[in-house]
Amino acid sequence: MTGTRRQFVSLTAATMLAATGTLPAVAQTKLKMAYALAKNSHYGAGAAAFIKSLGASASAFAIEEFPNSALGGEREVIEGIQLGTIDLALVSTGATTNFVPETGVFDIPFLFRDLAHARAVLDGKIGQELLAKFPQRGLTALAWGEQGFRHLTNSKRPVAEPADIKGLKIRITENPVHLAAFRQLGVLATPMAWPEVATALQQGTIDGQENPLSVIVSVKLWQLQKYLSLTAHVYAPAVVLMSPAVYGKLSAADKQAFQKAGAAAQHGMRDFVDQVEKDGVETVKANGMQVNTVDHAAFVKAVQPVYPQYYKQFGQQLVESIRDAK
Ligand code: PAF
Repeated sequence: MTGTRRQFVSLTAATMLAATGTLPAVAQTKLKMAYALAKNSHYGAGAAAFIKSLGASASAFAIEEFPNSALGGEREVIEGIQLGTIDLALVSTGATTNFVPETGVFDIPFLFRDLAHARAVLDGKIGQELLAKFPQRGLTALAWGEQGFRHLTNSKRPVAEPADIKGLKIRITENPVHLAAFRQLGVLATPMAWPEVATALQQGTIDGQENPLSVIVSVKLWQLQKYLSLTAHVYAPAVVLMSPAVYGKLSAADKQAFQKAGAAAQHGMRDFVDQVEKDGVETVKANGMQVNTVDHAAFVKAVQPVYPQYYKQFGQQLVESIRDAK
């Protein structure tokens, strides 16, 4: 650039500054981020952390949030990510299992002891290897997020023993791993997309549903359900997804910025889950829900007959190495 040209550029910027008080806006690339819950949920916390992190290192991108399933149920959102009509999403493995079946291994009931166990596995070799499977299915997975342990809610009765759950009509995610376990327990399990659940509960076509405290509290489920049974039957990871159509065109530096933002989203979700695990039960009780603990050992025993099927599907060695991980 010649000296004259350089001067012209800086004079132009200076003239703009003098005239308007601002520098000309740099065009930003707008990206759509979809998720199923409200902004005051763990997904909202993840999205906020993502946006803050990205703003600090790649400000050429502006993220537009579409909370509350505004772009459809999770299955449709994942299809949108594959097609490139949606750029980013926070989704549960309840839905990813239909696209990356290997992620279903984390949906096996009573596999993880606690949050620390689950996080260690997701952050370790097994979790990272599973994230690496997403590109084969037309998806980029930036990071594992989190929802927490799923519990049962219903409108009929407290569920404390496996016998109590028999015959209840329970909405489950569209996930065959969950379906096998609920059928084994004698539940009339109804796979259903999340956006249909509130109406189905209201109309009584289902008696209950199962989700972590993060979801139960953020959707104020006490407005529709009377009983919360702390079954903790499945740990629910989430995934920060991105469309390969966008990710593939990024510079190496921007790719790094998006990876960093994915990690920030993970921390945002985990911090939210840590908090709601501490105060969520009190919140739902204060809002009138009846909460009970369950006979954990009896539930673990009751789903054991499904394990041979899981071993066949995912490999006994993998399942056991996840279960026994320290
Ligand atoms: O139950 C589900 O489908 C999921 O847990 C939800 C609530 C959509 C969050 O990912």
